[in-house]
Amino acid sequence: MKQMNNYIDSLFTNQDDLLEDVISSIKENGMPSISVSPSSGKLLTMLISISGSKNVLEIGALGGFSGICLARGFGKEGKLTSLELEEKFAQLAHSNLSKAGFGNQVSYLTGLAIDSLEKLVTDQKKFDFFFIDADKLNYENYLNYSIKLAEPGALIVADNVLAGGSVMDPETKSKRYTEFMREFNNTVANHPLLESILIPIGDGMTVSRVKK
Ligand SMILES: C[S@@+](CC[C@H](N)C(=O)[O-])C[C@H]1O[C@@H](n2cnc3c(N)ncnc32)[C@H](O)[C@@H]1O
Repeated sequence: MKQMNNYIDSLFTNQDDLLEDVISSIKENGMPSISVSPSSGKLLTMLISISGSKNVLEIGALGGFSGICLARGFGKEGKLTSLELEEKFAQLAHSNLSKAGFGNQVSYLTGLAIDSLEKLVTDQKKFDFFFIDADKLNYENYLNYSIKLAEPGALIVADNVLAGGSVMDPETKSKRYTEFMREFNNTVANHPLLESILIPIGDGMTVSRVKK
Protein backbone atom coordinates (compact mmCIF):
# COMPACT_ATOMS: atom_id res chain seq x y z
CA MET A 1 0.00 0.00 0.00
CA LYS A 2 2.84 2.36 0.92
CA GLN A 3 4.60 1.89 -2.41
CA MET A 4 1.38 2.41 -4.34
CA ASN A 5 0.56 5.58 -2.39
CA ASN A 6 4.06 7.01 -2.80
CA TYR A 7 3.76 6.41 -6.54
CA ILE A 8 0.32 8.06 -6.80
CA ASP A 9 1.25 10.97 -4.50
CA SER A 10 4.45 11.70 -6.40
CA LEU A 11 2.79 11.58 -9.81
CA PHE A 12 -0.59 13.21 -9.14
CA THR A 13 0.04 15.81 -6.43
CA ASN A 14 2.24 18.89 -6.57
CA GLN A 15 4.25 20.69 -3.92
CA ASP A 16 1.58 22.51 -1.90
CA ASP A 17 3.04 25.10 0.48
CA LEU A 18 -0.28 25.85 2.14
CA LEU A 19 -0.93 22.21 3.02
CA GLU A 20 2.73 21.78 4.08
CA ASP A 21 2.20 24.65 6.54
CA VAL A 22 -0.89 22.90 7.90
CA ILE A 23 1.15 19.74 8.52
CA SER A 24 3.86 21.81 10.27
CA SER A 25 1.28 23.61 12.43
CA ILE A 26 -0.17 20.26 13.53
CA LYS A 27 3.30 19.03 14.58
CA GLU A 28 4.17 22.32 16.31
CA ASN A 29 0.99 22.06 18.38
CA GLY A 30 1.83 18.51 19.45
CA MET A 31 -1.21 17.11 17.64
CA PRO A 32 -1.21 13.68 15.92
CA SER A 33 -0.01 13.45 12.30
CA ILE A 34 -3.14 11.78 10.99
CA SER A 35 -4.36 14.12 8.25
CA VAL A 36 -5.53 12.53 4.99
CA SER A 37 -2.81 11.77 2.43
CA PRO A 38 -2.14 14.34 -0.34
CA SER A 39 -3.87 12.16 -2.95
CA SER A 40 -6.86 11.53 -0.68
CA GLY A 41 -7.12 15.30 -0.26
CA LYS A 42 -7.01 15.80 -4.00
CA LEU A 43 -9.69 13.16 -4.44
CA LEU A 44 -11.93 15.05 -1.97
CA THR A 45 -11.42 18.30 -3.89
CA MET A 46 -12.26 16.59 -7.17
CA LEU A 47 -15.32 14.76 -5.83
CA ILE A 48 -16.75 18.05 -4.58
CA SER A 49 -16.03 19.96 -7.76
CA ILE A 50 -17.32 17.15 -10.01
CA SER A 51 -20.54 16.75 -7.97
CA GLY A 52 -21.03 20.51 -7.55
CA SER A 53 -21.57 20.03 -3.80
CA LYS A 54 -21.97 23.29 -1.88
CA ASN A 55 -23.03 22.27 1.60
CA VAL A 56 -20.45 19.96 3.14
CA LEU A 57 -20.33 18.23 6.52
CA GLU A 58 -16.99 16.98 7.83
CA ILE A 59 -16.68 14.70 10.87
CA GLY A 60 -13.14 15.07 12.29
CA ALA A 61 -11.35 18.38 11.59
CA LEU A 62 -7.92 17.96 13.24
CA GLY A 63 -5.81 20.86 11.81
CA GLY A 64 -7.89 21.61 8.74
CA PHE A 65 -5.98 19.68 6.06
CA SER A 66 -9.01 17.85 4.70
CA GLY A 67 -11.14 20.94 5.39
CA ILE A 68 -9.02 22.97 2.99
CA CYS A 69 -9.20 20.20 0.38
CA LEU A 70 -12.99 20.07 0.72
CA ALA A 71 -13.33 23.87 0.51
CA ARG A 72 -11.09 24.01 -2.55
CA GLY A 73 -13.68 21.82 -4.27
CA PHE A 74 -16.50 24.34 -3.84
CA GLY A 75 -14.38 27.51 -4.07
CA LYS A 76 -16.08 30.82 -3.34
CA GLU A 77 -19.61 29.41 -3.26
CA GLY A 78 -20.01 26.81 -0.59
CA LYS A 79 -20.13 26.16 3.11
CA LEU A 80 -18.31 23.66 5.32
CA THR A 81 -19.61 22.54 8.69
CA SER A 82 -16.97 20.63 10.61
CA LEU A 83 -17.44 18.53 13.76
CA GLU A 84 -14.45 18.20 16.10
CA LEU A 85 -14.12 16.85 19.63
CA GLU A 86 -11.26 19.13 20.69
CA GLU A 87 -11.83 22.88 20.92
CA LYS A 88 -8.09 23.50 20.45
CA PHE A 89 -8.00 21.45 17.24
CA ALA A 90 -11.03 23.29 15.84
CA GLN A 91 -9.30 26.61 16.56
CA LEU A 92 -6.18 25.56 14.67
CA ALA A 93 -8.30 24.22 11.80
CA HIS A 94 -10.19 27.52 11.64
CA SER A 95 -6.96 29.49 11.62
CA ASN A 96 -5.61 27.30 8.77
CA LEU A 97 -8.86 27.54 6.78
CA SER A 98 -8.66 31.34 7.21
CA LYS A 99 -5.10 31.38 5.84
CA ALA A 100 -6.42 29.42 2.85
CA GLY A 101 -9.13 32.07 2.29
CA PHE A 102 -12.09 30.02 3.55
CA GLY A 103 -12.38 31.41 7.09
CA ASN A 104 -15.85 32.88 6.47
CA GLN A 105 -17.18 29.73 4.82
CA VAL A 106 -16.52 27.28 7.65
CA SER A 107 -18.16 26.73 11.03
CA TYR A 108 -17.00 24.34 13.73
CA LEU A 109 -19.21 22.45 16.15
CA THR A 110 -17.08 21.12 19.00
CA GLY A 111 -17.73 18.24 21.38
CA LEU A 112 -18.82 14.68 20.62
CA ALA A 113 -19.78 14.43 16.95
CA ILE A 114 -22.78 12.25 17.85
CA ASP A 115 -24.25 15.13 19.91
CA SER A 116 -23.67 17.64 17.10
CA LEU A 117 -25.19 15.25 14.55
CA GLU A 118 -28.28 14.80 16.74
CA LYS A 119 -28.65 18.58 16.93
CA LEU A 120 -28.26 18.95 13.15
CA VAL A 121 -31.07 16.38 12.68
CA THR A 122 -33.29 18.24 15.19
CA ASP A 123 -32.59 21.50 13.37
CA GLN A 124 -33.57 19.76 10.06
CA LYS A 125 -30.26 20.65 8.39
CA LYS A 126 -29.40 19.05 5.05
CA PHE A 127 -26.01 18.50 3.35
CA ASP A 128 -24.96 17.32 -0.10
CA PHE A 129 -21.51 15.95 0.82
CA PHE A 130 -20.20 14.17 3.92
CA PHE A 131 -16.65 13.33 4.89
CA ILE A 132 -16.33 10.85 7.78
CA ASP A 133 -12.87 10.83 9.39
CA ALA A 134 -13.19 10.73 13.20
CA ASP A 135 -13.27 7.93 15.80
CA LYS A 136 -13.49 4.72 13.80
CA LEU A 137 -15.70 2.81 16.21
CA ASN A 138 -18.56 5.24 15.51
CA TYR A 139 -18.40 5.00 11.70
CA GLU A 140 -21.69 3.09 11.44
CA ASN A 141 -23.40 5.75 13.58
CA TYR A 142 -21.86 8.52 11.47
CA LEU A 143 -23.05 6.79 8.32
CA ASN A 144 -26.61 6.51 9.64
CA TYR A 145 -26.68 10.16 10.68
CA SER A 146 -25.24 11.18 7.31
CA ILE A 147 -28.03 9.33 5.49
CA LYS A 148 -30.59 11.12 7.70
CA LEU A 149 -29.03 14.50 6.92
CA ALA A 150 -28.52 13.84 3.19
CA GLU A 151 -30.09 15.62 0.25
CA PRO A 152 -31.10 13.13 -2.46
CA GLY A 153 -28.00 12.22 -4.46
CA ALA A 154 -25.59 13.34 -1.73
CA LEU A 155 -22.14 11.77 -1.51
CA ILE A 156 -20.80 10.16 1.67
CA VAL A 157 -17.04 9.54 1.82
CA ALA A 158 -15.32 7.68 4.67
CA ASP A 159 -11.55 7.47 5.21
CA ASN A 160 -9.32 4.68 6.62
CA VAL A 161 -11.62 1.91 5.47
CA LEU A 162 -8.68 -0.37 4.59
CA ALA A 163 -7.25 -0.05 8.13
CA GLY A 164 -3.69 -0.16 6.79
CA GLY A 165 -4.57 -3.15 4.59
CA SER A 166 -5.63 -5.28 7.57
CA VAL A 167 -9.25 -5.60 6.37
CA MET A 168 -8.18 -7.83 3.48
CA ASP A 169 -4.63 -9.02 4.18
CA PRO A 170 -4.23 -11.69 6.89
CA GLU A 171 -0.45 -10.99 6.90
CA THR A 172 -1.03 -7.38 8.02
CA LYS A 173 -1.25 -6.85 11.75
CA SER A 174 -4.83 -6.12 12.82
CA LYS A 175 -5.69 -2.69 14.18
CA ARG A 176 -8.07 -1.95 17.02
CA TYR A 177 -10.73 -1.07 14.47
CA THR A 178 -10.04 -3.68 11.75
CA GLU A 179 -13.17 -5.71 12.47
CA PHE A 180 -15.30 -2.56 12.70
CA MET A 181 -14.02 -1.46 9.29
CA ARG A 182 -14.81 -4.86 7.77
CA GLU A 183 -18.35 -4.52 9.08
CA PHE A 184 -18.57 -0.89 7.95
CA ASN A 185 -17.42 -1.78 4.43
CA ASN A 186 -19.93 -4.61 4.35
CA THR A 187 -22.73 -2.26 5.40
CA VAL A 188 -21.74 0.39 2.86
CA ALA A 189 -21.42 -2.16 0.05
CA ASN A 190 -24.85 -3.70 0.70
CA HIS A 191 -26.88 -0.74 1.96
CA PRO A 192 -30.22 -0.47 0.11
CA LEU A 193 -30.05 3.35 0.10
CA LEU A 194 -26.47 3.60 -1.15
CA GLU A 195 -24.55 3.00 -4.34
CA SER A 196 -20.92 2.56 -3.24
CA ILE A 197 -17.35 1.81 -4.20
CA LEU A 198 -14.05 1.62 -2.30
CA ILE A 199 -11.12 3.57 -3.73
CA PRO A 200 -7.76 2.27 -2.42
CA ILE A 201 -6.06 5.67 -2.20
CA GLY A 202 -4.34 6.64 1.07
CA ASP A 203 -5.77 4.31 3.70
CA GLY A 204 -8.78 3.60 1.48
CA MET A 205 -11.94 5.64 1.03
CA THR A 206 -15.48 4.45 0.45
CA VAL A 207 -17.53 6.73 -1.79
CA SER A 208 -21.30 6.32 -1.56
CA ARG A 209 -24.12 8.06 -3.36
CA VAL A 210 -27.41 8.32 -1.50
CA LYS A 211 -30.12 6.93 -3.78
CA LYS A 212 -33.19 8.33 -1.99
C1 LIG B 1 -8.05 11.47 11.60
S1 LIG B 1 -8.33 12.95 12.46
C2 LIG B 1 -9.10 13.97 11.24
C3 LIG B 1 -8.18 14.38 10.14
C4 LIG B 1 -8.78 15.42 9.22
N1 LIG B 1 -10.01 14.93 8.62
C5 LIG B 1 -7.79 15.73 8.12
O1 LIG B 1 -7.57 14.86 7.27
O2 LIG B 1 -7.26 16.85 8.09
C6 LIG B 1 -9.65 12.56 13.51
C7 LIG B 1 -10.22 13.73 14.30
O3 LIG B 1 -11.45 13.33 14.89
C8 LIG B 1 -11.54 13.90 16.17
N2 LIG B 1 -12.44 13.08 16.98
C9 LIG B 1 -12.15 11.92 17.61
N3 LIG B 1 -13.23 11.46 18.26
C10 LIG B 1 -14.23 12.34 18.00
C11 LIG B 1 -15.58 12.42 18.40
N4 LIG B 1 -16.14 11.48 19.17
N5 LIG B 1 -16.32 13.47 17.97
C12 LIG B 1 -15.75 14.43 17.18
N6 LIG B 1 -14.46 14.40 16.77
C13 LIG B 1 -13.72 13.38 17.18
C14 LIG B 1 -10.10 13.92 16.69
O4 LIG B 1 -9.94 14.90 17.70
C15 LIG B 1 -9.31 14.21 15.42
O5 LIG B 1 -9.08 15.58 15.28
